[in-house]
Amino acid sequence: MKSFNIGNLEIKLPIVQGGMGIGVSLSGLAAAVANEGGVGVISVAGLGMIHNERHLGFLEDNNWGVQKEIRLAREKTKGVIGVNIMVALSNFADLVRTSIAEKVDIIFSGAGLPLDLPAYLKPGSVTKLVPIISSSRAAKLICNKWKSAYGYLPDAIVVEGPKAGGHLGFKPEDIDDPNFALEKIIPEVVEVANSYKDEKEIPVIAAGGIYSGGDIRKFLNMGATGVQMGTIFVTTKECDASDTFKNEYIKAKKDDLRIIHSPVGMPGRALDGEFIQGVEAGLKHPKACPLHCIKTCDYVNAPYCISQALFQAARGNLDKGFVFAGFNAYLADKINTVKEVIAKLKREFAAAQ
Ligand SMILES: Cc1cc2nc3c(=O)[nH]c(=O)nc-3n(C[C@H](O)[C@H](O)[C@H](O)COP(=O)(O)O)c2cc1C
Repeated sequence: MKSFNIGNLEIKLPIVQGGMGIGVSLSGLAAAVANEGGVGVISVAGLGMIHNERHLGFLEDNNWGVQKEIRLAREKTKGVIGVNIMVALSNFADLVRTSIAEKVDIIFSGAGLPLDLPAYLKPGSVTKLVPIISSSRAAKLICNKWKSAYGYLPDAIVVEGPKAGGHLGFKPEDIDDPNFALEKIIPEVVEVANSYKDEKEIPVIAAGGIYSGGDIRKFLNMGATGVQMGTIFVTTKECDASDTFKNEYIKAKKDDLRIIHSPVGMPGRALDGEFIQGVEAGLKHPKACPLHCIKTCDYVNAPYCISQALFQAARGNLDKGFVFAGFNAYLADKINTVKEVIAKLKREFAAAQ
């Protein structure tokens, strides 16, 4: 596997670990992946629930948690560290400002179009900006907007296809439609990136359902420069979620994966379980919105708080939440170290054509 550059950052291993909330990818997993030469990514979603020791209120605690996790990661690695900040978060602007002030290497931003992201850069900022999109139309829109409004083009583009875990940038009816498959979108986004070649090299990073070295080879052969992988890193020793959460992947069968309708207004891929079944039976009702964390959340009608549910699941409280997972989560059979996962991917990549 060849190294590549995101701006002036050299990424020795073309693997980005996808940001996973809430509390699934923190400094522990991110540093372990960065130590292997990939990009380690901290998900900033819900950090105010994890780092609430200063009792500043959820949004302020969230901001403080971002600073803390970036610093913790820096203590554990000299490698490349990113943060994942969803556009839909109500404190998006604060989280971006804090991450740039902390000189995080890369901000990955999806779950909406990060149309104003370059506005937060200051003279001397070192942070690279990478949108996560799910269509070539969105890639074009962001490139045009960033170029015309800020004179800036993305430092890379992550293309997340419908086999990813967590919230998906597709209509429910498009998820299984071959016209929306990652294999279809990648060449289209590569074409968009290539149209800017004279101005800037924009690496395209493929994500969603990539689980083996053979898969990596396939997408690099299609023109991607790197891959982003989430699910495969959940069942690692270093993943920041509880063992109960990780074991749900190991126990999972293919039929346990399903698409849910998230209160944030997007479909999501998750493992079936007690909590989801309870929601379907009409059992869960929050009394109030405790966090006001997501702009698009229909919290008046929502049957539960998505942030609480994801936070509780990662902690292992599966009666209070559910487990997001990618299409291939059922392939996990044991907990490995990040080093073992990457060594296996390299062997498979070498063996594949
Ligand atoms: C448990 C879990 C949580 C996730 N949370 C987020 C998130 O907070 N923000 C985000 O942009 N993507 C999130 N994702 C998507 C991943 O970052 C990644 O792009 C995707 O899962 C890649 O597909 P794969 O899991 O098949 O490798 C999540 C995925 C999983 C499995």
